[in-house]
Amino acid sequence: MVQLSLPKNSRVQKGKHWPAPAGAKKVKTFKVYRYDPEASGNPRWDTYDVDVEACGPMVLDVLLHIKNNIDPTLTFRRSCREGVCGSCAMNIGGRNTLACTHGHDETPGASCQIAPLPSMPVVKDLVPDLTMFYAQYASIEPWLHTTTPEPQQEWRQSPEDREKLDGLYECILCACCTTSCPSYWWNGDKYLGPAALLHAYRWLIDSRDEATGDRLDALEDPFKLYRCHTIMNCAQVCPKGLNPAKAIAEVKKMLVDRVV
Ligand code: SF4
Ligand code: SF4
Ligand code: FES
Repeated sequence: MVQLSLPKNSRVQKGKHWPAPAGAKKVKTFKVYRYDPEASGNPRWDTYDVDVEACGPMVLDVLLHIKNNIDPTLTFRRSCREGVCGSCAMNIGGRNTLACTHGHDETPGASCQIAPLPSMPVVKDLVPDLTMFYAQYASIEPWLHTTTPEPQQEWRQSPEDREKLDGLYECILCACCTTSCPSYWWNGDKYLGPAALLHAYRWLIDSRDEATGDRLDALEDPFKLYRCHTIMNCAQVCPKGLNPAKAIAEVKKMLVDRVV
């Protein structure tokens, strides 16, 4: 399992403790990172003893149970509850994953630590500031670039060319990979990170796109692409089973191939 460091601002103190309710049937302890940059005080770990028999099966169910029944001040992001929107990504038991698809019984032991995605500034509690992440995604220009006149109906693609996008288009931009990447932790302002680079490759190999040269030119930079050292954390944590490291290697290969 990939064990990750805490967010950058982590002089984390011991916080409040909510004991289990009387008559609880099966208690699990959740240690949750709490921080409000707009309030005074340092980050802290609050401890909630939760009757997991009273919750649904996922970590997101536990967080909703805490918010609805124990502590309404707890802040986290979620939307689809189906592993589709990527908004509930967080660090659970030392691993970046989606709270809505990660069972609370998947972390071993009687307690489980929950923190925001590592290396990003914290907006509040479990909500990371993903401004840089989205700007890096936008920088690879994730849309079709064409110069030929638009067809009357649609840009056509053969089934074989369409298949080349499998393993790439499924990305939900959850940021689990990028925030688990040690190279990104050190050079997050200059290295694009695995998610943006996976998308860069997705457009590079799209048979309908006509800007391959420009796209490769934009990536040929000591930091944007070449900070990937194939550590593979990204592929290990992706909740959709994608392999950004492989996509990055393919981009590097395209750059080599065009000079030989
Ligand atoms: S393989 Fe590359 S992108 Fe993935 S975690 Fe390692 S350095 Fe980061
Ligand atoms: S590649 Fe996987 S981990 Fe990375 S942003 Fe996309 S879905 Fe999330
Ligand atoms: S709430 Fe949408 S992926 Fe978890």
